[in-house]
This record gives sequence, structure tokens and C-alpha cells, in this order.
Amino acid sequence: MKVAVAGGTGLTGRHVVETLSAAGHEPVVLARGRGVDLVSGAGLDAALNGVDVTIDVSNVTTTRRAVAVGFFERAGRNLLAAAARAGVRHHVVLSIVGIDRVKSGYYQGKLCQEAVARAGAVPWSVLRATQFHEFAGQLLERVPGPVAVVPKLTVQPIAVREVAEALVALAGEEPRGMAGDLAGPRVESLVTMARRLIAAGGARRRPVLPLWVPGPMGRGLLPSGPGARGVQTFDQWLAEQRQDSWSAGRSE
Ligand SMILES: NC(=O)c1ccc[n+]([C@@H]2O[C@H](COP(=O)([O-])OP(=O)(O)OC[C@H]3O[C@@H](n4cnc5c(N)ncnc54)[C@H](OP(=O)(O)O)[C@@H]3O)[C@@H](O)[C@H]2O)c1
Repeated sequence: MKVAVAGGTGLTGRHVVETLSAAGHEPVVLARGRGVDLVSGAGLDAALNGVDVTIDVSNVTTTRRAVAVGFFERAGRNLLAAAARAGVRHHVVLSIVGIDRVKSGYYQGKLCQEAVARAGAVPWSVLRATQFHEFAGQLLERVPGPVAVVPKLTVQPIAVREVAEALVALAGEEPRGMAGDLAGPRVESLVTMARRLIAAGGARRRPVLPLWVPGPMGRGLLPSGPGARGVQTFDQWLAEQRQDSWSAGRSE
């Protein structure tokens, strides 16, 4: 299969490309660094020539609704229009568990991305996954100051490698519409994850101050029903990171 990966240079995208190659498929990376801009549409038609399936793991880092909606709507529409012109048979989108239960500017963007896929001319599948094991680290990087204020959230984190494997498996199947929620093996406290990450040397050493969060967000971003579960726990992932990148310096 020739599979175009939108965001193929990103955290998830790199794993998707690696998994595709290992399975004998032909990945095509769609990213600005590779001359394809999803927002302007530049380079899309040429890159999608002969592509069977598209996997969208592109991203914009923002908490602002207007930025998130603007990106996911434009990128999704351009990608789907070009995919339809190229005769792509299956469009796969990575989304996030709970985005319709939790109010967030970024999640509004993800809901738009799902809506664009549903309204497009290419048969589609949307896989909603829980937060990655990297989530605590990504959050800590954005929190300034000598004390890290971390929301008291309950999450069920998953290895991004397992998410990539699930996306590639889905890409080879018939379009499913909304696929079941994919979550990690264990429920964890985000505050505890942040503390363990700092203790392991994976983030700047400083005290973590838990911040109570009201409403649905505070009650967790957990899957609402049965579905596939990953295998690797946060602790196992942490041990793997220490052996790999942290011993050679610090994960980027
Ligand atoms: N983080 C989590 O816990 C989590 C959980 C579940 C689902 N997800 C979802 O997973 C997806 C991937 O997230 P990620 O953290 O892996 O992404 P990421 O590391 O931020 O990578 C983003 C990718 O998008 C590309 N991109 C951005 N703007 C572009 C543009 N205008 N045109 C073409 N390519 C563009 C980037 O490449 P260039 O910069 O070269 O363009 C890069 O390859 C997101 O949709 C996110 O919602 C994340």
C-alpha cells in the first residue's frame, strides 16, 4: 500500500512512518519540511499521486480555539479534497478520547477535524486515542517558574508507538467510521506522572503543585466504553526512556 502520512515528521507521524515501512508499505510524508503545506494546499496533489490511503496525524500546538479550528478545518479540507482527486480509498484520522465531553479550544479544533472527515468524499475512519505517555512532559515544558502547577487529572496514557500500530492496522482495513476508543493499560494521576518524570530526570527538577480542576475535565479523559487497550504502562515507558535518550542527554 502507498500511504500518505500528514504530519509524518511529528511525534506520532515518525512512528507511523516507521511502522508502515516495517510492514512493507510505502510511506509518503506530508509536512512543510517536505514541501507540502496542508493549510495552503501547496504540494498536496503531486505528493498524493498513486496514494491508496491517507493517515492524518498533523498537529498545531495551541490552546486557542480560533487557531486550532482554523488549522484543523483548513488542513483537513485541503487534504480531503486532494485525496478525493487522487482516488484515495480510505482516510484515517487520529483524534482524542473525550473531546466531545471536555470544553477546550484545542478540542474544538479536533472536533472540526472529525467533522471535515465525516463530510468528505473519501470513506473514512477516526481513531480516538487517550493522552500519550509523553503528555506529562509536554505539559511541564509549557509551565514556567520554579514550581510546576499541574492539573489534578485522571488519564489512561498510552505508548505513541502502539497508537501508530493501531493506525496502520486500521489503514489496511475497510473504512470503519468512528473506531472504538484506544486507551493505555492503566489509569494514572497526571500529577504522579509529572513527579515520576521529574524524579527520573526527564524534566526540569522542581516541586509539583497539584491544581484542582472542576467539571468533566477533572473527572478524567478516560474512555467511555470498551475498546482496544495498549500494553506498555507509563512506568515501563519511563524505564525505556531512561535507557535511551535521557542517558545520552535529555529527550528533546
Ligand atoms: N499528544 C497527545 O497526548 C495526543 C493524544 C491523542 C491524539 N493526539 C493527536 O495526535 C496528532 C499528532 O500529534 P503529535 O504530537 O504527534 O504532532 P507533532 O509532533 O506536533 O507534529 C505535527 C506534525 O504536523 C506537521 N504540520 C504542522 N503544520 C503543518 C502544515 N501547515 N502543513 C503540513 N504539515 C504540517 C508537522 O510538520 P512540519 O512542521 O514540517 O510542517 C509535524 O509533522 C494530533 O492531531 C493530536 O491531536 C495527541
